[in-house]
Amino acid sequence: MQRRDDTEALRHRVAPLEMTPDDFRAAGHQLVDVIASFLGSLRARPVTRGETPEEVRSALPLSSLPEEGTPPQELLKETADLLFEHSLFNGNPRFWGYITSSAAPLGALADLLAATVNPNVGGWDLSPAASEIEAQTVRWIAEFIGYPATCGGLLVSGGNMANFVGFLAARRRKLGADVRTKGIGAMSGQQPRVYCSAETHTWIEKAADQYGIGTDGIRWIPTDERLRMDLTALRNQIQRDKDDGDAPFLVVGTAGSTGVGAVDALPELAHICREYDLWFHVDAAYGGLAAGLPDAPPDLAGLSEADSVAIDPHKWLYSPLEVGCALVHDPQDLTDTFSYHPSYYRFDEATKQAGINYHEYGPQNSRGFRALKVWLALRQVGSKGYARMISDDIRLASHLFRLVHEHPALEACTHNLSIATFRYVPSDLTVGAVEVEEYLNQLNEELLGQLQKSGEAFPSNALVGGKYLLRVCIVNFRTSLEDIEALPEIVVRFGRTIDAALRPTNLRPKP
Ligand SMILES: Cc1ncc(COP(=O)(O)O)c(C=O)c1O
Repeated sequence: MQRRDDTEALRHRVAPLEMTPDDFRAAGHQLVDVIASFLGSLRARPVTRGETPEEVRSALPLSSLPEEGTPPQELLKETADLLFEHSLFNGNPRFWGYITSSAAPLGALADLLAATVNPNVGGWDLSPAASEIEAQTVRWIAEFIGYPATCGGLLVSGGNMANFVGFLAARRRKLGADVRTKGIGAMSGQQPRVYCSAETHTWIEKAADQYGIGTDGIRWIPTDERLRMDLTALRNQIQRDKDDGDAPFLVVGTAGSTGVGAVDALPELAHICREYDLWFHVDAAYGGLAAGLPDAPPDLAGLSEADSVAIDPHKWLYSPLEVGCALVHDPQDLTDTFSYHPSYYRFDEATKQAGINYHEYGPQNSRGFRALKVWLALRQVGSKGYARMISDDIRLASHLFRLVHEHPALEACTHNLSIATFRYVPSDLTVGAVEVEEYLNQLNEELLGQLQKSGEAFPSNALVGGKYLLRVCIVNFRTSLEDIEALPEIVVRFGRTIDAALRPTNLRPKP
């Protein structure tokens, strides 16, 4: 009897995860209402509550995996409250840490729609519309930054992955096809060499480590006074390595360094790469999108000459995490680097008709529809809308730099793109002496820690020439002039209080 009931239940199967359209509608409407109110409250909320891991952990509703389920509407309500009370909000107008943008609200709806259709964008047949939308998104990004429209490219999880794609394409093209079958070990003792500035993001170490070159294969080229790669030092190092029988294969330029937003001299780097027959990759994860501005800095112009470029929509296209973009001049370099044809895939028909099977373009096989949020936002505001937002971010950083420069208790240090760095220097201290500099580093580090925890504003830090600096990176379309104008006084207020408690006696004014 039991068995017959089971079979009957299976015949009219209703799985525990299923939701009726009415239930979905009710839960969805409720969630969208809650999200809309949250978005409206972003400015009024602290950037963060600065809670400890213990405090946040204890706010989670359950400690063990439940055996029985809970209705979705209840779960969504409870979880929205949990997230809104215990998160850091990079959507707050005063979040300026690292290079993490405020996310376009449309992106949240796009992710909902993308997850609903749930195409697997690894194969064209599995994702006809999504594959075409991704191809168009990649083309539009290339067009925006002035990269050739005939390029190949794909979306990945972020800057690290986009840079890895460029790195692997370089390795395959310049070290040869054997590197895929025999590995680096078969290179008859030649040490592959990669060149990048000392300001390069840590992805390069991960890539060299993971993809067989080893971090010792990286040549860290010193920088000039503007923290750009020193071209003479680069040339000398390449020549020395060639003379020593090593195998130079890749130069990495940076368009917008993580610390201070420095842009390497890309046209000159392109020239050196051509001269020595090296692959030219540009990490433009942050700054590349500024190449789309009518008054783009001239150093960015060389981006179009790069063999590959990494660029992050989840930075300056304000897409919700995660989405990075890898571009290569010649799409063939992607298939030569990543393509396999396992017997269980039958996607070749699409390729014959110029459809892209993205599993052949990059490291992933199953892939989500991350293009949708980028594509929709590009259509929502157009290239003009993006140029305006990026340019406003840059103008705000420039304004902040001016304000800081004019403030007697602040020392302005660097300004590139939308990053300004500075530090708090009590007016009675004379900078330069070792003990003063050590104290200033300690003071500014403490200041940053307390400011971040306070939730009033959220800069992060940079270390330049041994100085610990506060760093404001504006990739935030919600930041206004009012937010920027408030910051110097906030910093000085924290600085004064901390200085009063922290300053060692030998640096205090004599009574
Ligand atoms: C210049 C640069 N490259 C690469 C990355 C890594 O990007 P992601 O964190 O998206 O992997 C960053 C991150 O800030 C960056 O600033």
